[in-house]
Amino acid sequence: MTLILGLETSCDETAAAVVEDGTRVLSNVVASQHELHERYRGVVPEIASRAHVERVLPTVEAAVREAGVALERIDAIAVGNRPGLIGSLLVGVSAAQALAWALGKPLIGIDHVQAHLWAARLEVLSPESRVPRPTQDSSLKPQASSLRTLDHPALGLVVSGGHTSLYVLESPLRLTLIGRTIDDAVGEAYDKAAVILGLGYPGGPTLDKLAQAGDPRKVDLPRSTLGADSLDFSFSGLKTALLYAVRGHPVGRREAARFERSEADLTDAERADLAASFQAAAVDAVMIKIGRALDQHPAVQRLVIGGGVSANSLLRARAVELGERRGLPVHVPAMAFCVDNAAMIAGLAYEHLIAGDVSPLDLPAIATTAL
Ligand code: KG4
Ligand code: ZN
Repeated sequence: MTLILGLETSCDETAAAVVEDGTRVLSNVVASQHELHERYRGVVPEIASRAHVERVLPTVEAAVREAGVALERIDAIAVGNRPGLIGSLLVGVSAAQALAWALGKPLIGIDHVQAHLWAARLEVLSPESRVPRPTQDSSLKPQASSLRTLDHPALGLVVSGGHTSLYVLESPLRLTLIGRTIDDAVGEAYDKAAVILGLGYPGGPTLDKLAQAGDPRKVDLPRSTLGADSLDFSFSGLKTALLYAVRGHPVGRREAARFERSEADLTDAERADLAASFQAAAVDAVMIKIGRALDQHPAVQRLVIGGGVSANSLLRARAVELGERRGLPVHVPAMAFCVDNAAMIAGLAYEHLIAGDVSPLDLPAIATTAL
């Protein structure tokens, strides 16, 4: 039994988790900073890194306590060291370096995007019984026995605030990028759409909820497909189309341009219809590319989805539908593991550890990803 303590501080969540043998989550603590960034309607890097400094040690302590294991029992320390906000990453990396050094345990640097694709394999264990607890998403959960060793190649889709990318996974550690957004990430588009509709921050979950009360056919918004064979994504046209649908076309030019209406003029029903129409267009655009990728890569055995937007109700429903239609197993994370968390970091680190792939103690924090 191998226990890994994971740390994650790449953006605005300070997270720590203890995971056994790659998939069994003994604790998963996430200290969100949403309240600190809400008034700016986006993450302010300086505020994020300062908050990580204050929260990282209490979060690690809580994760170890909740797991019910002594710190000395931990076999390795894992940390998301790329990609992300550099000031935020540095806090987690420094804490992980100190822990690894003080405990004399291996340090493992993890790619955050790759870890999102591990999240669907995580299962929650109650610390008392150490038996699997059913999650609310049991229909989407892979069988326990196959959790760590799923068949490959798999098609991987990461949909988050920073990424919208498709990969072919030859194994959990070997993946090839086959498509990505050429402008906004889908989560970013959700957050901006929420601002356009006058909703709170972060916008994704609020917009998703509101969309369920609206009519998705009410407003015709564009589904960008790019070239006929393209696996890339584009969401900036959808965002602009929503802006014009809400506020009308701008009158006048450049600095003098003014919109005819504002989001305050929307009725509740209009706002819900716009949210539903946006959600339908955004999710359609993603599903079109998944379909194309599966057609272009017939050897693919399964579809694995991860990242904050994999919590989206419509995307989850459409992914299950697609799996049934194509006879393809589809793996979506339990809700707790969709958004940023450290369990996915500790889980993927197990694969690195058994492959003998550990990091030097002077592991760097890297803002961009090679993937
Ligand atoms: O993976 P994540 O926590 O952070 C990044 O690595 O970016 O993803 C956060 C993103 C945000 O843009 C948030 O609005 C979006 O995920 N999100 C959602 C939903 N829940 C979170 N977007 C659509 N529907 C949701 N239910
Ligand atoms: Zn993320």
